[in-house]
Amino acid sequence: MATIFDMETVALDDQDSALLIIDQTQLPGRREILRLKDQKSIWDAIYLLKVRGAPAIGVAAAFGIYLAAKEIDEDTFDDFYKRFEEARDYLDSARPTAVNLSWALRRMDSVVRENREKTVPEIKSLLLREANEIKAEDIRVCCSIGENGLKLLKPGMGLLTHCNAGQLATSKYGTATAPMYLGQERGYGFHVFCDETRPLLQGARLTAFELQEAGIDTTLICDNMAPSVMKQGWVDAVFVGCDRVAANGDAANKIGTSYVALAAKHFHIPFYVCAPTSTIDMACKTGADIHIELRPAEEVTEMWYEKRMAPEGVKVYNPSFDVTDAEFITAIITEYGVAYPPYDVSLKEIFEQKAKA
Ligand code: MRU
Repeated sequence: MATIFDMETVALDDQDSALLIIDQTQLPGRREILRLKDQKSIWDAIYLLKVRGAPAIGVAAAFGIYLAAKEIDEDTFDDFYKRFEEARDYLDSARPTAVNLSWALRRMDSVVRENREKTVPEIKSLLLREANEIKAEDIRVCCSIGENGLKLLKPGMGLLTHCNAGQLATSKYGTATAPMYLGQERGYGFHVFCDETRPLLQGARLTAFELQEAGIDTTLICDNMAPSVMKQGWVDAVFVGCDRVAANGDAANKIGTSYVALAAKHFHIPFYVCAPTSTIDMACKTGADIHIELRPAEEVTEMWYEKRMAPEGVKVYNPSFDVTDAEFITAIITEYGVAYPPYDVSLKEIFEQKAKA
């Protein structure tokens, strides 16, 4: 599949001693690779959205906790694990909504706990192996979501997406964009509308950029234009990513997603959520249980512009995500197949297939 960069979004350097990320806050203007070694800079990169998107922050956290573990200079398991837990909890505190962050850290934690009889250097190399596997899995999962999503589409269709669930939000290919990249490779000739996605403009800065770089016919629209392009008949399906899906199918994704879902329902347009199973949180019963991250007011009042855009002192409400109720979701596309309502049944079946695989 077409990719935009020679390197993947998140990687370790050749010596396995630093995390390499594309600084997404600089895109599309500058392609700057950051080399991060210490925990504070990795935490900051996640919090400040230099690396962002649920799967990508999961992979970054896996590499991040490996780098932290590598620096722990203790010989006994108990001393090593105490410091490992501190680093794990610190990274986990960077962002609350995308479940992939805690999911990846839990996986890394299990590697440590299940190998307590091994030496500390052995545990460190197992951690490196697991982090690499989390990344490799992410790439395979995106490819499968691409295949499963493409089966729902026909050549020449108009698609709409919100925020960035693309290559930049994962290790490669993206989730919502994977069917678009695959379709491009197979001559489907899709036309994609990208919502700009206020306040941080992931749609304008990242999705429009990566789709255009891949040669896909791309049109950028402001968030408030989605119903208008739907009404013209230009959108045949909506594809979005997600940060956490509850067991009943309610899905948290970038703020504004639920408004796109409402419009899609009104115009009888299918609304698909692309969800790796790592983003489905079966321990979370409904969307009401999902912790929605609140971000700084400055993202709304002054970011990206030379001048402040709002009066000093105005109150700002800046939730980073919203929850789309399951009733507005036509289907949830996973790497194990497509789940349809009722999701409390179909998502369980997806996990049963995963357990057998
Ligand atoms: O705040 P962000 O930019 O990390 O939000 C990202 C999204 O909402 C994505 O749609 C989601 O993480 C899915 S990425 C495959």
